[in-house]
Amino acid sequence: MTANVLVVDFGAQYAQLIARRVREAHVYSEIVQSTITADEVRAKSPSAIILSGGPKSVYEVPAPSLDPAIYELGIPVLGICYGAQLMALQLRGDVARTGAGEYGRTTLTRVGSSALMDEWPMTSTCWMSHGDAIAQAPDGFVVTASSGEAPVAVMEDVQRRLYAVQFHPEVMHTEHGQRLIESFLHKEAQIPATWTNSSIIEDQVAAIRKQVGNEKVLCALSGGVDSAVAAALVTKAVGTQLTCVFVDTGLMRKNEGEQIEETFTRQFGVELIHVKAQDRFFDALAGVTDPEQKRKIIGGLFIQEFETVARDLGAGGDGPRFLVQGTLYPDVIESGSGHAANIKSHHNVGGLPEDLSFELVEPLRLLFKDEVRHVGEELGLPAEIVWRQPFPGPGLGVRIVGEVTRERAEILRNADYVVVDEIKKAGLYRELWQSFAVLPVVRTVGVMGDGRTYAYPIIIRAVTSDDAMTADWARLPYDVIESIANRLIREVDGVNRVALDVTSKPPGTIEWE
Ligand code: XMP
Repeated sequence: MTANVLVVDFGAQYAQLIARRVREAHVYSEIVQSTITADEVRAKSPSAIILSGGPKSVYEVPAPSLDPAIYELGIPVLGICYGAQLMALQLRGDVARTGAGEYGRTTLTRVGSSALMDEWPMTSTCWMSHGDAIAQAPDGFVVTASSGEAPVAVMEDVQRRLYAVQFHPEVMHTEHGQRLIESFLHKEAQIPATWTNSSIIEDQVAAIRKQVGNEKVLCALSGGVDSAVAAALVTKAVGTQLTCVFVDTGLMRKNEGEQIEETFTRQFGVELIHVKAQDRFFDALAGVTDPEQKRKIIGGLFIQEFETVARDLGAGGDGPRFLVQGTLYPDVIESGSGHAANIKSHHNVGGLPEDLSFELVEPLRLLFKDEVRHVGEELGLPAEIVWRQPFPGPGLGVRIVGEVTRERAEILRNADYVVVDEIKKAGLYRELWQSFAVLPVVRTVGVMGDGRTYAYPIIIRAVTSDDAMTADWARLPYDVIESIANRLIREVDGVNRVALDVTSKPPGTIEWE
């Protein structure tokens, strides 16, 4: 994979967003550390470089810097916010500590003609977040836009193909942000828009074929998006060499197993081993109420079930030598080295015994989540799988407070189905990070018809989030809450009351356990 665009990371989360925007412009991008040298850049031979924003001031000690020889390579460079100021400073312009910064929506006014902002209106809205400001552009640069506190909001040196913008074109609040990024990439750096879902699929299919040759491959399907798309890619690459394993823990969402079976067995013709392990999970969980212990039991048993299948298949010997993992690009970046990502949760089948060692196949390790969903769609996976909200490895087990029993799992599964169904009908499913039902330990008194009831409440949990690190409780419309509540009580046996969780994260977590 040639690194078309290098996004140099100056901290915070700006670089990831920039890399995603570049890919939305159909250009492959890769995030690199700011310690990268000019020689290392040359070795990667990118078609352009973007310097990200960052949380520091260029005058802080220490503040991240850039090998100045990078500006001499003749590769087009776009500096954004911190990256813009650093470029100004390193090329002997002037950055002032004005004390009067700009934060949030700001009016940008154009000055003269501009390569980056061709055909923009004279004024537009952009998103600023800066304390210092470029006071004087370096020699060779032309100032092409300014704002109230940033006299040099955009500067361009078309000759050397160096550009800098004080605002954040990558955030959606900047009116023509994506247009600016695309002008830089396609017009100034002359990079064609060739990074598409089909090119991603073609590249990965070729890479998988090269890696696994004629060997057999194993994949654990969890019901989630990543493992499904990874398996679909491997199927396209090596077809019948793949065996998928789906362990039904009894803690899956309604119809999840059937849907996986329908898709992979009937649609893709893959060999699927559907392990119906519900009884073993419920037996192991009997009487256990401590959340951590529940997680350990579920995780441990999952590995045991997977291991049994792998051994039956003769893994390592004449059986599968490769294991598919749905590792994504953010995991790769976060693990720092660009080597194998940490295995985060049990359904990634980490923790297998040493004698059962596999070589990993990670066809999604270059992709962001939104790209994975689009690739999945293009591969023909059903929308219900591709657009599924995240689901924790231990499944409904972390949403059943207290003891997990067959009966309680069934109540929650039916309740979860109702919540999700109503959220989908209201058209809110894709914009919410997660929306689901929680079953507490308590029961409460109610009255239904002529009789007294003593049954469980269901708690509706719906959150918005970008990355699950923080989350806000979703302001669901009253009429949606009302139809969820009515249906829960009418359709789900064992439920007589409904409550809404209005806790953000922090202080709460998204899941209840
Ligand atoms: P919390 O509850 O910590 O969850 O706010 C953050 C995100 O992670 C998911 N989650 C898990 N995912 N294995 C997983 O694969 C787990 O054990 C696990 N626990 C929580 C949760 O659904 C949310 O998206």
